Amino acid sequence: MRLFSVASVLLLTLVAVVQGLTWTATPFNPSSIPLAVRAPYLSAWLPQGEGAALNDAWATFWTGMIVGWAGFVKVDGVPYVFMGSPSVPAAFSKATQKSSQFTSTKSIFVLSAGPVDLTVTFLSPVEPNDLVKQSIPFAYMAVSAAATDGRSHSVQVYSDISAEWVSGDNTLTVNWTSTTTGSILTHQVQLENPSVFAEINDHTQYGSAFYSTPNTVSATFQTGADVTVRAQFINNGKLANTLDTAFRAIDDNWPVFGFAHDLGTITTATTPVVFSVGHIRDPALEYIVASGGTQSRNLLFMSEFSTSAAVISSFLDDYSAALARATAFDAQVQRDAGKISADYAAVVALSIRQAFASTELTLSKTSTGAFNTTDIILFMKEISSDGNVNTVDVIFPAWSIFLYTNPALGKYLLEGLFRYQATGLYPNPWSTHDLGASYPKALGHNDGLDEAMPVEESGNMVIMALSYAQKSGDISQLQRYSALLNQWTGFLITDSLIPANQISTDDFAGALANQTNLAIKGIVGIGAMAEIESLLGNAAQSANYSSIAKSYVTQWQKFSASTTGAHLTLSYGNSSSWGLSYNLFGDKLLKLNLFPASVYAEQTAWYQTHANAFGVPLDTRHTYTKTDWQILTASWVTNTATRDILIGAVKDWVSDGQNNGPFGDLYDTVAGSLVPGIDFKARPVVGGHLALLVL
Ligand SMILES: *[C@@H]1O[C@H](CO)[C@@H](O)[C@H](O)[C@H]1NC(C)=O
Ligand SMILES: *[C@@H]1O[C@H](CO)[C@@H](O)[C@H](O)[C@H]1NC(C)=O
Ligand SMILES: *[C@@H]1O[C@H](CO)[C@@H](O)[C@H](O)[C@H]1NC(C)=O
Ligand SMILES: *[C@@H]1O[C@H](CO)[C@@H](O)[C@H](O)[C@H]1NC(C)=O
Ligand SMILES: *[C@@H]1O[C@H](CO)[C@@H](O)[C@H](O)[C@H]1NC(C)=O
Repeated sequence: MRLFSVASVLLLTLVAVVQGLTWTATPFNPSSIPLAVRAPYLSAWLPQGEGAALNDAWATFWTGMIVGWAGFVKVDGVPYVFMGSPSVPAAFSKATQKSSQFTSTKSIFVLSAGPVDLTVTFLSPVEPNDLVKQSIPFAYMAVSAAATDGRSHSVQVYSDISAEWVSGDNTLTVNWTSTTTGSILTHQVQLENPSVFAEINDHTQYGSAFYSTPNTVSATFQTGADVTVRAQFINNGKLANTLDTAFRAIDDNWPVFGFAHDLGTITTATTPVVFSVGHIRDPALEYIVASGGTQSRNLLFMSEFSTSAAVISSFLDDYSAALARATAFDAQVQRDAGKISADYAAVVALSIRQAFASTELTLSKTSTGAFNTTDIILFMKEISSDGNVNTVDVIFPAWSIFLYTNPALGKYLLEGLFRYQATGLYPNPWSTHDLGASYPKALGHNDGLDEAMPVEESGNMVIMALSYAQKSGDISQLQRYSALLNQWTGFLITDSLIPANQISTDDFAGALANQTNLAIKGIVGIGAMAEIESLLGNAAQSANYSSIAKSYVTQWQKFSASTTGAHLTLSYGNSSSWGLSYNLFGDKLLKLNLFPASVYAEQTAWYQTHANAFGVPLDTRHTYTKTDWQILTASWVTNTATRDILIGAVKDWVSDGQNNGPFGDLYDTVAGSLVPGIDFKARPVVGGHLALLVL
């Protein structure tokens, strides 16, 4: 996308120079650049810190573990590395990176290899309106070459992946096969002793990784030790079409799975050579059902494709169309978010792949073994703060991305939570925190001992259920689960005006009684239930809930006011305390208008004068803050100056060069650094950065 004005490009270039980058970074250099980021176990990034070219460092899983992914090019017989940081017993040079760019779906690098520029495009599709495509856990790398001197040059391109894509333990043994199916070459690799539904270091321990490319006349392949296969290309410009079948540990003479293409003699930009990388598990998740037994669930695309070869073939054949859809999606996001500010558009673009990549669309099977295509559940891995499944207070901050792209995804996220709790197996009167402690095992919490966030999660469920119905006009989920929604509202009526000592979603900050912002969540939840009852045709119950919510707001105003400054307190009676009242977002999102305009104006003025160098603290207990809560707050503040302080802070943090993980949502507002000991990164909560697009 080249939608930036000349002025903003100049400014961005200037910022890049200040950071010491030797290339142009558009729209800015983030802490880590998404490469193949599509699913909880397909997550490859290029860590940046103060800046790393595509061939300065290895790609890493979101945790920071390397996932080997190398690229070489030969130009007129001269070899260059363009991706990864391989060491090979053969001479080669490093291509020189000229630019990096990210959009919502793509990361694009241009590197010079002598007289030829390579454009390397990493496309991780975001397909919110095509559930089959969205559920395919694959991404593309496309490489094209163009001469910069107007002359003709001979060009060959090489790439491989290692077996690090299939486990979090590199001492485990893997096996592999290489096959040609129709017009596609595929390397497949998996653990020799897989463990279904298990993880090590957040990597899955079963299923297979696939590296594929079109089988053009010039294509060659090879499997073998990293040094062997890479040296073969460096020395010969092609691979040997040989297989190493000495199956061994991932780190034992590092087996790699390589392809090479001869582009022939080129001058102007070539059509790209395309590679796809992906990872498939069958089954994908285990989910608790009414009997207390469990159900295996599969990735949704399996109802359309019965073999991995079929889905890979469809995915690779679709590259041009996928690129066109992605470019249109990028442009739409840029248009919408760009209306707020360039900083905002950039923060949103960086958030989109990360948020979607925490999710997996699934189906169950019927008793005959056929896929039940009407039984869709979307699962989400909490990521890095925990490995929980469908954490309600992680879905809530992420919610905006689903509302903006396809509200039905929100319904499918809530469905698993509703259905489990409707079985009666969950014993507490409030909403559960999550569907299971460890992804991908959604086994519920029949002992009721999940991390209790009673007001937080009950409010979140009622608010999100109404939000989906308002956006879609579909009230079927409200009808089906009205008893649960009423139960949770009953709990909110008991415990949200005077919230008992408990944690909120910000559990790292500790428990507190009478939290002002938590009370807002609960009261908005009661107000939301009034709307739900109205949609369900229960006018009397609606009026009752509505009057309770209104009377709570009046009482809350007295409890929550500070006597020492014009602001809400963090907790009732502590006048020197304050915090981000991000839960007012719910009042605006649902158009309830429960809270008076004066509250919004007062909080806006307070934040405007209480920002540190990197934003407004979460509350007075610490100097740290959250990116998602700042942006939910930015969605309702009453002036653009404060809005832009909050958004600018998030952009400054993620581009300040101090961090090299995927987008972190918890950081220190004074230092612009991670909070020691709490490394939140790669989390879906960045979906909340789209909050300004849904109000
Ligand atoms: C690789 O290991 C898997 C899991 O044990 C097994 O099913 C498969 O047959 C093996 N493949 C090869 C080529 O040995
Ligand atoms: C398909 O799933 C839906 C939703 O869980 C269920 O109501 C229906 O009975 C299922 N159909 C079959 C044939 O199992
Ligand atoms: C919570 O606030 C209410 C209303 O101000 C007060 O009566 C109660 O004592 C407070 N509870 C705690 C634990 O501070
Ligand atoms: C309103 O709802 C509350 C809480 O469910 C209930 O205790 C009360 O009886 C209801 N009042 C009316 C008039 O229905
Ligand atoms: C009031 O809030 C401040 C800042 O959060 C905190 O340091 C202090 O301990 C609190 N006071 C009481 C009495 O809880």
